[in-house]
Amino acid sequence: MAKSGSLRLGVLGSGRGSNFAAIAEAASRGDVAAEVAAVISDVENAGILQHANQLGIPGRFIDPGKYRTKLDEGAEQAYITALQSAQVDLVVLAGFMRILKGDFLRSFEGRVINIHPSLLPSFPGLKAWKQALDYGVKHTGATVHFVDQGIDSGAIIAQETVPVLDEDTPETLLERIHGAEHRIYPASIAAIARGEVILKGRRTVRRVS
Ligand code: GRF
Repeated sequence: MAKSGSLRLGVLGSGRGSNFAAIAEAASRGDVAAEVAAVISDVENAGILQHANQLGIPGRFIDPGKYRTKLDEGAEQAYITALQSAQVDLVVLAGFMRILKGDFLRSFEGRVINIHPSLLPSFPGLKAWKQALDYGVKHTGATVHFVDQGIDSGAIIAQETVPVLDEDTPETLLERIHGAEHRIYPASIAAIARGEVILKGRRTVRRVS
C-alpha cells in the first residue's frame, strides 16, 4: 500500500484491546501519522470498546449475526458501512476473532492488516503461542500481515522474534509476544502511512523515503 500522509484507521477487535491502545498511544505521541477514526467490536462488553471510550475515540458494538466465526451478510454490510462512513483508509484487525472475506475484503482491497502471535507461516489459527510451546520451538514471535482470503496467509509486513524460555507457561510466553506486538504493529502502520510498504506479489518491500 503506497498511500502516504495521515491515515484514518478503523480498528476491529474482540478482546482486551492492548494492540489498539499501543497504536492509539503511538498516534497521539506523533510516532505514527495516523488517527483512529473508529473502533468496532463484535463483543458488546469488550475491553477494546472501554479503552476507546476512555480515549475519547468513537467505539461501537456491531452485532456479528448468527455465525460463530464469521459475520453474516447483514453484519458484513453494517461493518463496511460503519468503516466507510468514518472514512477509514486502513482497516486494522487487533484481536478480531472472525474471518473476513468476500465483500468486506473487496471493499477495502489491500487495505486490511492483521497481527498474529507467531512467526507466520508457523502456527496460523487459534492460540498460536500455545501451539508454539506445545511444538517445542525455541523461537516464536509476532507477525503483521495484509489480510487475504485465507487464514493468516497474506503478505507479511513485519515480524519480531521472541525466545521461548525453558520455564515458560502459555501465559508468560504470550506476555512476551504481546511486547513484540506492541512494537511492530504501530511501527508497521507508521511505515504504511509514510508510503514505504510496497506490495510485490506475495512479498512486501520497503521503499526508503
Ligand atoms: C493479539 O495477541 C493478536 O496477535 C491476536 O489477538 C490478540 C489481541 O490482543 N490476533 P489485544 O486485544 O490487542 O490485547
